[in-house]
Amino acid sequence: MVELKSDSEIEKLAVLGKITAMIVRKLADFVKAGISTKDVDDYANELCRHYNVKPAFKGYRGYPASICISVNDEVVHGIPKADRIIREGDIVSLDFGTYMDGFYSDMAVTVPVETVTETNKSLIKATKEALYKGIEKAVVGNRLQDISYAIQKHVEKNGFSVVRAFVGHGIGRSLHEDPQVPNFGNPGCGIKLKAGMVLAIEPMVNAGSYDVKIKEDGWTAVTADGKMSAHFEHTVAITNNGPRILTDVEE
Ligand code: MF3
Ligand code: CO
Repeated sequence: MVELKSDSEIEKLAVLGKITAMIVRKLADFVKAGISTKDVDDYANELCRHYNVKPAFKGYRGYPASICISVNDEVVHGIPKADRIIREGDIVSLDFGTYMDGFYSDMAVTVPVETVTETNKSLIKATKEALYKGIEKAVVGNRLQDISYAIQKHVEKNGFSVVRAFVGHGIGRSLHEDPQVPNFGNPGCGIKLKAGMVLAIEPMVNAGSYDVKIKEDGWTAVTADGKMSAHFEHTVAITNNGPRILTDVEE
């Protein structure tokens, strides 16, 4: 069942979303060659204490850390580790959710570490653009897969592929709510979008094939062909005035 949020609930989600966005921006600035992914997790915990929010992923289905950090061919759900050192040329996906006062927020960015390959640059650019193409379609009266299709079309136009095994989701009083929001689909299909829906839209994009496999840790998803992957995510409210990006520092 898709839970519609009231205006006052959306305002609360916007407050939390802005905090999430500020934290993610600080984490993205913190990422540099020579630090470990565990250092980033530690900093995420420190920022959560500072802003008085809880890291939403910690303990979720047994997830052992506060943030998911997926480097290079890792697609999503990379677990921070002290011996996973970030290097120049890496692309680092930071996926971070927060909880406060009964509400959740979820966001992801992929950051290049110093100089990266042209392919990685265009992979990051196309994934971010695809997210915004999807958000543009998060409009009252559209259908869910109008979002999916816009994402898929932009990704494939750029010669990349959208991951099928993971999808976006409704969000609010739970981290994952209905509906699922695939990053592939057909225009005019899926449920009708209504004011009050809040969606975490999150294209995961592979440079090669869309197939993924899960590593022995039971969490980390990597590309099956070893090629690079990028991820961007925003929590977005559908309103009568159009899509409202809740995880935005500019709001
Ligand atoms: N950010 C992920 C999502 O959007 C959630 C991570 S699952 C966790 O669905 F277990 F790592 F928390
Ligand atoms: Co999400």
